[in-house]
Amino acid sequence: MSQTEGYPYKTISELYNHPIAEEKVMTKGWVRTRRTTRTVSFVELVDGTTLRSLQIVLPHEKISQERIEAEIHTGASLAVSGILMLTPTRAQPFELIAEDYILYGPADPQSYPLQKKNHSLEFLREISHLRVRTRTFQAIFRIRGGISFAIHKYFQERGFVYVHTPILTPSDCEGAGQLFQVTTLPLYRVPMHPDGRVAYEKDFFGKPAYLTVSGQLEGELLAMGLGKIYTFGPTFRAEPSHTPRHLAEFWMIEPEMAFYDLDMTIDLAEDFIRHLVIYSLTHFEEELAFLQERYEKNLLNELNSIKEENFLRLSYTEAIEVLQRSGRSFQYPVEWGCDLQAEHERYLVEEYARRPVVIYNYPKHIKAFYMRQNEDGKTVAAFDVLFPRVGEVIGGSQREERYDKLIARMQELNMDLFSYQSYLDTRRYGSVPHSGFGLGLERVLLFLTGMTNVRDVIPFFRAAGQMA
Ligand code: 4AD
Ligand code: MG
Repeated sequence: MSQTEGYPYKTISELYNHPIAEEKVMTKGWVRTRRTTRTVSFVELVDGTTLRSLQIVLPHEKISQERIEAEIHTGASLAVSGILMLTPTRAQPFELIAEDYILYGPADPQSYPLQKKNHSLEFLREISHLRVRTRTFQAIFRIRGGISFAIHKYFQERGFVYVHTPILTPSDCEGAGQLFQVTTLPLYRVPMHPDGRVAYEKDFFGKPAYLTVSGQLEGELLAMGLGKIYTFGPTFRAEPSHTPRHLAEFWMIEPEMAFYDLDMTIDLAEDFIRHLVIYSLTHFEEELAFLQERYEKNLLNELNSIKEENFLRLSYTEAIEVLQRSGRSFQYPVEWGCDLQAEHERYLVEEYARRPVVIYNYPKHIKAFYMRQNEDGKTVAAFDVLFPRVGEVIGGSQREERYDKLIARMQELNMDLFSYQSYLDTRRYGSVPHSGFGLGLERVLLFLTGMTNVRDVIPFFRAAGQMA
């Protein structure tokens, strides 16, 4: 470029935060649109630092119309140097009068898939490498990044230690059998014992290994020394369901607290989510306004309502009674002991309570082995947090800290005690009451962004049959 000297680089958000009349600046970004008249061309430039675009005016007497028409198309990347002119009487507060530009990368208008019009989310899912060029995904990923920071901040400020639990694991934490197996054994000729068992001693770890479905078990071990911990990382579930709520790779936040009982844990979960909602409202005004306008007309009302109202707490038994009294004919019949289906959860949250609902004390046979058994012999000290539009965002429990009860339950479920030795050790040495929960990041992001499909709140989704 002829005139880089004396044109300091500023991002578009820096220009919006502090516009200086007649300042010489250079700014860089991608072309959203171009419009060419006889004497000037107008380019709408975006750079990802804000949802707002910068209007660039290219006078043809300075920059030839032929060059502009050959090079500047939607999607192309440019560095533009020029003079910032304030235009307080127009729709945009200022514009950059270009003196010159560099074309970093052209974008062929015949093949570039994004146009100015609003593309459907389904279409954008097929081009997940390019969808981040749209304001929708810039807003969503900006919120995702900010909320991740807010999550760390929340726990760090309350004395929780961030721990890293392993991704490769020998055991199935949730006992739901949704594990991805990891192996270096040759799949075309798996070594076998004469009796038909796989010769795992020849596998990389000398025993079967999987991608973790949850960091909880190791989180519990660490909480037994550190007191309060949290994990924040990817988890993997070979979940065959093709639903808008399930991913095969998703991010989970799992706090685990020594000396917490179920009530303290539900209080924490509620405070935590409320905090995230308030953080979004205060830090992502621009993004939320955009998402509300484009996708979910009630978004801000819904978010604001979380600030004021407490979640409704219902025991599982009460929830069953509410469903039975509803007079609804559900597709899945409701009786004590059944697992709550999406239709039941929706009724409870959206029609009965009209606010988030916490359900606690579930029947033990529908929940994981590690949950603390209640005195009634039938239920465990588990809880789920259910949200409008989304369903379950949190699952958690008080853990069974009593060695004998835990062993008995594991035996009842035919679990291989040998592979849970270290877990059982925590119950043999200095065991304490403790509790924790898991928040699905993508689920809470559905609520925060107004999106309806978890594939749209993670940059590159992995779901059954799909790797974006
Ligand atoms: O209810 P889940 O299975 O609980 C656990 O994994 C416990 N170990 C957590 C704990 O107590 N430390 O999963 C927790 C949350 C769910 O409430 C949901 O928000 C999310 O993780 N989740 C998923 N999100 C996206 N795709 C999936 N396939 C998910 N499965 C669970
Ligand atoms: Mg759950």
